[in-house]
Amino acid sequence: MRMILVGPPGAGKGTQASRLVETYRIPHISSGDMLRAAVKEGTKLGIEADGFMKAGKLVPDDVVIGMILERVAKQDCAAGFMLDGFPRTRPQAVALDQAMHAAKVDLDAVVLIEVPDALLEERAVGRRTDPETGTIYHLKYNPPPAAIVSRLVHRKDDTVEAVTTRVQKYHSETAPIIPYYLEKGILKRVDGVGDPNTVTERITAVLNS
Ligand code: AP5
Ligand code: MG
Repeated sequence: MRMILVGPPGAGKGTQASRLVETYRIPHISSGDMLRAAVKEGTKLGIEADGFMKAGKLVPDDVVIGMILERVAKQDCAAGFMLDGFPRTRPQAVALDQAMHAAKVDLDAVVLIEVPDALLEERAVGRRTDPETGTIYHLKYNPPPAAIVSRLVHRKDDTVEAVTTRVQKYHSETAPIIPYYLEKGILKRVDGVGDPNTVTERITAVLNS
């Protein structure tokens, strides 16, 4: 299974990916997680990406395309992968297509998790991540156990200001990839509102249909 999860910031891509990879036994490749790891390590890539990310802007295409194409070429992706947060511009979608064409493999599905803008700010601002396990919590919707609260991380781009920019960028830069995949006949729309278990069931159903 070679698939992509698309959706606005806070749609639940990371939450759903961590559940789905258990079922499909494929690597979860999150461009955001890879970039945050590079920022933390202080690599050249991380230093370049940091300012864009904090402001809620997209990191330049050439930087992200190189990073992801190198990752999906690794041996553990030979039987499939789940991309989360890439592609999110049309040039990124075209670059992925070209790389897959060259490798003689096809994309199976692009799952679009739809959540209205009005819900996104609260989801992002209330998010907390466990740096030890990578588990994504929400102070209201998925509260963390009291024992680990002190070690949880609040993302630098989960401010009201940055989320507003991220939502705008989603509509201007990322939404145009939706018709691109619709035309290829592999786009699957899923309602991302409701209990996360229900959303997982909806995704599994469209992938099996
Ligand atoms: P990235 O890390 O990809 O962020 P994003 O797309 O903004 O998405 P999020 O991770 O914020 O949300 P999510 O959909 O994963 O939701 P989650 O499951 O955590 O990118 C960050 C930045 O990196 C970008 O802004 C950009 O600068 C750069 N970048 C990354 N990729 C790039 C690319 N390809 N090109 C250029 N730049 C790139 O859930 C959110 C919260 O909601 C959590 O608290 C969760 O518990 C809660 N929640 C989840 N599901 C539900 C539910 N069903 N009901 C209630 N709450 C829920
Ligand atoms: Mg995420």
